[in-house]
Amino acid sequence: MLIKKQTGIEMPSSEITPKHIYLSRRKFITGAAAVAGSALLAACASPGAESPTAVPESKAVDAATAMPADNATAVPIATADELGDPLNTFEEIINYNNYYEFTTDKESVAKLAANYPTSPWQVEVSGFVNKPQVFDLDDLRAFEQEERIYRLRCVEAWSMVIPWMGFPLAKLLDAVEPTADAKFVRFETVLDKANMPGQKSPWFQWPYVEGLRLDEAMHDLTLMATGLYGEELLPQSGAPIRLVVPWKYGFKSIKSIVKIELTDTMPTSLWMASAPNEYGFYANVNPQVNHPRWSQATERRIGEFGRRETLMFNGYAEQVASLYDGMDLRVNF
Ligand code: MTE
Repeated sequence: MLIKKQTGIEMPSSEITPKHIYLSRRKFITGAAAVAGSALLAACASPGAESPTAVPESKAVDAATAMPADNATAVPIATADELGDPLNTFEEIINYNNYYEFTTDKESVAKLAANYPTSPWQVEVSGFVNKPQVFDLDDLRAFEQEERIYRLRCVEAWSMVIPWMGFPLAKLLDAVEPTADAKFVRFETVLDKANMPGQKSPWFQWPYVEGLRLDEAMHDLTLMATGLYGEELLPQSGAPIRLVVPWKYGFKSIKSIVKIELTDTMPTSLWMASAPNEYGFYANVNPQVNHPRWSQATERRIGEFGRRETLMFNGYAEQVASLYDGMDLRVNF
């Protein structure tokens, strides 16, 4: 089931456009913006990780042919986010990825992950809940699917605007009934060293783990994404199901989830374990708190020339700032 919802973020109806029209518009926009050269930025690099990665400038792509075209659903999707920034193209979103289970080379993820089997799939939800449950793909699809257009801001200082499909994590958590002891939610990606070459890297403690405070997890902006641009997620985007927390750095948005555990202690994420001085638990987008090795004041929107200012909480302060009232965000970074 598909419904449209902008979640307290108003979108003028004039912005709503049929899919074939926004695709051709994006084709025009990206073609016009194409420029040569590239900016060099550091990666989510912890000790021993590969060297900094080049962020590509916009490519003049044919977004229409990049889509699984003829079976495309006629889903109306807005052409821009609520701030008026255009969506990134489908082509940009599926060809520039962070997915260290496969490789640290963003432009090779799509190819390396292409044949990764994402069905059948199960997500086990356990811990401090009254009704522990294993959700299969049909169970996950049974949640009412919504379209959410969110900015994704990577800690590496690049960003995109992505039209996700999915459902609020709160709906899944409501189904398992967290108990009063549940304070945090811990997420785990599939562990599959045989088919995920990056999991042989000794630099990280696999599987990829992330965590949220329970109130962050229950916030309506926190999404379990199952698709983008009206299509099911491809492997490189974290198929069949991933988290999207738009006000936090992208590394919190863990891909290919197989386990969700409600806990009473703060989970240690893969990034906290590998570089605790660089990556904290909260990881809220914050232009005033720099990464120890680079500034977070500005970012490069993929498909654009130049840099733009980074917004507090990635532009979602109105919705989420109150979650952190009284906290020192330099300490709780
Ligand atoms: N999830 C897993 N399992 N493995 C990863 O390497 N990378 C994170 C996040 N989720 C990552 C992950 C980072 S650093 C970012 S910026 C986003 O995924 C990128 O999402 P995208 O590739 O869909 O743009």
